[in-house]
Amino acid sequence: MGSKEAETVTRRRLVVATSALGGIAVVGAAIPFVASMAPSERARSAGAPVEADLSKLAPGQLGTVEWRGKPVWILRRTPEMIERLGRLDRLLLDPASARTQQPEYCRNPLRSIRPEFWIAVALCTHLGCVPSVRKDVAPADLGPDWPGGFYCPCHGSKFDFAGRVFRNVPAPLNLEVPRHKYLSDAVVLVGADDDASG
Ligand code: FES
Repeated sequence: MGSKEAETVTRRRLVVATSALGGIAVVGAAIPFVASMAPSERARSAGAPVEADLSKLAPGQLGTVEWRGKPVWILRRTPEMIERLGRLDRLLLDPASARTQQPEYCRNPLRSIRPEFWIAVALCTHLGCVPSVRKDVAPADLGPDWPGGFYCPCHGSKFDFAGRVFRNVPAPLNLEVPRHKYLSDAVVLVGADDDASG
């Protein structure tokens, strides 16, 4: 495959969760999306950046695109979600994102370019399971401190809505934020940016 072809941007439909609450529904939504891709398309787009249409996401919804064979989440955070992220530092292992799990332009408390939209590889940094979204605050099974976030069903790791890992869980790192840039107010390109520094 030539480099020109490899760099071809692939337009993808953003898969939007059908349930405002359902982590299982969100994760499940990625399956038909992946399966619907023809093998040739998958091969061609293996390393290509992916465009996602943000206009399909309602506040609080989570969408999924596939990039380099991995699920990538795009979360449209509500003002309440953003506000809660400012009160969690004492619960988190790396609240200021000191470790390299994001491009420099996302090394901030919200781990994003725009506060409203957060983008991350949807794989737990312990052993790579796909965490479930848990938007409910202080549910019985996750405890009174649970602010809403992502819970990994494999071994119980927890992440907030910026992908920051909680203390005392198996996962050692925040979720990975991939390179990305906004092509317009409603379109983001996942997998590429204008930062030549790496
Ligand atoms: S893979 Fe997520 S906690 Fe182990």
